[in-house]
Amino acid sequence: MAKNLKNPKIQVVSGMHDILPEDQKYYKRIYDVVSTMADFYGFGKIDTPVVEDLELFAKGVGASTDIISKEMYTLKTKGGDTLGLRPEWTTPIVRSFVEHGMHNRPQPLKLWYFGPCYRYERPQADRYRQFWQFGFEVFGEQSPVIDAQIIQIFYNILKELKLKDLIVEINSIGDSNCRPYYKKLLSNYLKSRESSLCADCKRRFKESVLRVLDCKEEKCQPIKTEAPQILDHLCDECHVHFKEVLEFLDEIEVPYTLNPHLVRGLDYYTKTVFELFTEAEGGSKMALAGGGRYDKLVKLMRGKDTPACGAAAGVERIISLMKAQEVGGFKEPEIQVFLAQLGGMAKRKSLSLLEEFRKSKIRVAESFGRDSLKAQLNRADKLGADLTMIIGQQEALDGVVIIRDMKTGKQDIVKIDKAVATVKKQLK
Ligand code: HAM
Repeated sequence: MAKNLKNPKIQVVSGMHDILPEDQKYYKRIYDVVSTMADFYGFGKIDTPVVEDLELFAKGVGASTDIISKEMYTLKTKGGDTLGLRPEWTTPIVRSFVEHGMHNRPQPLKLWYFGPCYRYERPQADRYRQFWQFGFEVFGEQSPVIDAQIIQIFYNILKELKLKDLIVEINSIGDSNCRPYYKKLLSNYLKSRESSLCADCKRRFKESVLRVLDCKEEKCQPIKTEAPQILDHLCDECHVHFKEVLEFLDEIEVPYTLNPHLVRGLDYYTKTVFELFTEAEGGSKMALAGGGRYDKLVKLMRGKDTPACGAAAGVERIISLMKAQEVGGFKEPEIQVFLAQLGGMAKRKSLSLLEEFRKSKIRVAESFGRDSLKAQLNRADKLGADLTMIIGQQEALDGVVIIRDMKTGKQDIVKIDKAVATVKKQLK
């Protein structure tokens, strides 16, 4: 309350944003491309509530990850439940998979989604506290072909959106067979260098040693470069799986770069992890999408042991890149007819005439707020209407309408109840 009195400005919550009409076309374009791709590859759409039991996210994403320990939006309900706003979709989808016994449906089960997520991050360019993700998840298939196909789907979507300079980075972080040994190796290596690590890495070293590899701090880079690499320590199964993922990617000609330091910020991954980047302003990289395999998560959520693989992309980041790369070619629906009116009675007639056109699926624009005929004809011109209908006081009294061909300037007068049929004919 006191804060509001000091700062009477009414504004959107920090880190969040409105999506104004002029930006809706980007969301629609992305949604269209994603849903078409989902249909083609046989994914069914799923929606889950934006809130879940807080515990669910801690269990799924990992209590010591930044997403859970620093960035969760939590709320207490009047009934005393502690809930969390969804910071990502994979955990709720796994909850839903288990709850609805989806392992009994034909496998692999493929799901996709599109909607907002919440993370209490420090607001900065391309990092929001409410952002939209779309994603694809495949359950019940352990073949590496799925890993490659998920990467291909995201690569294709970004290509279809006409984005340039895409980089796919890929790594394997092993599984419960080989990762514990590698973690021990890495810890031993880092122990003698702990004093040279940045403050964040000192913490990561204790809580989640693999995350040290993800550090962007200058002083940690030489330590990372010299560190043992997990790819050299994968067990046979993980090694073969990873090799096959890369072979599939070669086969479908998706270019990729091996990044032995890619570990991802969520705890549920096993084997393949990947991210799709683009070069952002100033040469830094911006992650557009990320994902990987999570073969143990369904079981962790008390489901039947079910392998799974998926990824998600950030919609705002894609839009910011579409704008920066000036991706155009949005098709606005074409206006076929403009309805101009003059005077109160004409307005009333126009309202019901407009309904007739809507029922006949003819796209009509109007400008009921304007009373000057010149201004209305100018607008008709701007919108590129083929025909303009004019109803003035006299026409309203006579029950007629003037139909003007905007190209030739030719005008006809027709009975108002014949207007739709005449326009239909002329449009042909
Ligand atoms: P993630 O890497 O945390 O993965 O998020 C995926 C994408 O969401 C990022 O690459 C980025 O484009 C976008 N994103 C994340 N945080 C923000 C933010 N604060 N502002 C704007 N965009 C953001 C996941 O969420 C996993 N659930 C992906 C997954 C699905 N793994 C398996 N299946």
